[in-house]
Amino acid sequence: MTERMTTNQGAPVGDNQNSRTAGRRGPTLLEDYHLLEKIAHFDRERIPERVVHARGAGAHGVFTLEQSMKAYTSADFLQEPGTETDVLVRFSTVIHGTGSPETARDPRGFAVKFYTQEGNYDLVGNHLPVFFIRDAMKFPDMVHSLKPAPDTNIQDPARYWDFMTLTPESTHMMTWLFSDLGTPANYREMDGFGVHAFKWINAQGEVHYVKYKWESAQGVRGFSRQEVAEVQGQDFNHATRDLYDHIKNGQYPQWKLQVQLLKPEHMDDFAFDPLDPTKTWPEDVIPFQTVGTMTLNRNPQNFFAEVEQAAFSPSALVPGIEPSEDKLLQGRLFSYPDTQRHRLGPNYLQIPVNCPYAPVRNHQRDGLMNVNQDPSPVNYEPNSSGNSPQEDATYRDSRVPLHGEVTREKLEKTDDYTQAGELYRSFTTVEQQHLLDNLVNDLKGVPVDTQMRALCHFFRADGQFGARLAQGLGVDISAHMPPQNR
Ligand code: HEM
Repeated sequence: MTERMTTNQGAPVGDNQNSRTAGRRGPTLLEDYHLLEKIAHFDRERIPERVVHARGAGAHGVFTLEQSMKAYTSADFLQEPGTETDVLVRFSTVIHGTGSPETARDPRGFAVKFYTQEGNYDLVGNHLPVFFIRDAMKFPDMVHSLKPAPDTNIQDPARYWDFMTLTPESTHMMTWLFSDLGTPANYREMDGFGVHAFKWINAQGEVHYVKYKWESAQGVRGFSRQEVAEVQGQDFNHATRDLYDHIKNGQYPQWKLQVQLLKPEHMDDFAFDPLDPTKTWPEDVIPFQTVGTMTLNRNPQNFFAEVEQAAFSPSALVPGIEPSEDKLLQGRLFSYPDTQRHRLGPNYLQIPVNCPYAPVRNHQRDGLMNVNQDPSPVNYEPNSSGNSPQEDATYRDSRVPLHGEVTREKLEKTDDYTQAGELYRSFTTVEQQHLLDNLVNDLKGVPVDTQMRALCHFFRADGQFGARLAQGLGVDISAHMPPQNR
């Protein structure tokens, strides 16, 4: 039996096809509540899209712990091997809008929400291991340079190369981004990285800095420039379709979660700063350990409710996991819940996909779209009611020793080039050729001054890298060298 159609107030609808008018050919009456409600609701169907990472795809799944991490963190879901934790994952491109092609050269977002028994834990990473900048202060400028220009509304390499070449710490990330890995073949065949260091704290209060990697069981595959053009011409939704179809057909994608752990007393052991998100930690010195496996096994039934309304944040942490002092991460801790209050409303954590499995009990009340009001009349603390939620000192944050002075300064060890050079040299001949081809193709239209700055940075990373790029761009580098080097 079909169900009766109603208005949003629950009243039966007698006619869903014809407006109520004054006479057969007369004007429509304002009293037609069903028409007004139907159109007014439609008028409000769109919510603000994410300011970055607007285009994405999501899936549900499970994370299974394989190795206990008890020695390093008290995080509840990382204690007993075999523990299963439900997850929601959203993959995304960064720069363009919700309907943009999924072939763009862009980092891919790799955001995971773990619904743990002690609250939601979000690991909001990317598919490349480093980032363009190391201070949150630069993020809005960086994004402005990459977004479409204010006048033409078209992305312009001259603008982002202008910014990036005046920001030498981006050299490492630009080397990753202009390799074929900057255009991943789909969301399944890519790894994920937490990028920042975080802190794990165990039951004894001992701290380890930790970096995360999701290793794809499907392998890693990037598109060449020619493949991008071909795929984009056929299907600009190819990555969403690929993920959806594989899950629908029972070919569930999997990733191994791996971590690198570093004791605080070793933070000064390197030529770079381990809290710098433009750097990776050398695997030969700090090897990866496997933690567990994530399997994506359920497609969303409703994209808007389960993916568009999803809210991830690096500040969604659980006991045993804390942010590091990384200045990029520190800015992110504020930014995500702030934008989500704007994008989804102050009670965005009551939206089912964001709602923790763990019970929520506190004295925060009311606000726009509060649909889960605590019925208790006691909404303040301290109180003498004897049955209101109580803090628990076992869950106090860790204590952090401080020294030095309040300041605004760069990190002491910047080293913007060494790892970019190492990355270039780690590529195969073909990978190097594609990197150079991608760079030449993008840089050829930008002003000569910007080209020269770019060459200068890639030279510093690796002399051969710079020389081959100069050759590709048709620049006579001898004219720019001091006389003794010509
Ligand atoms: C999304 C800000 C750096 C990964 C977002 C959003 C904002 C933002 C405002 C939209 C969130 C929403 O509407 O729900 C920032 C700021 C950064 C920064 C201020 C630096 C200071 C990074 C870095 C990474 C990253 C370093 C990767 C390690 C992501 C991902 C999403 C996202 C994956 C999409 C989350 C989703 O799928 O909903 N970022 N971001 N961001 N950001 Fe960042």
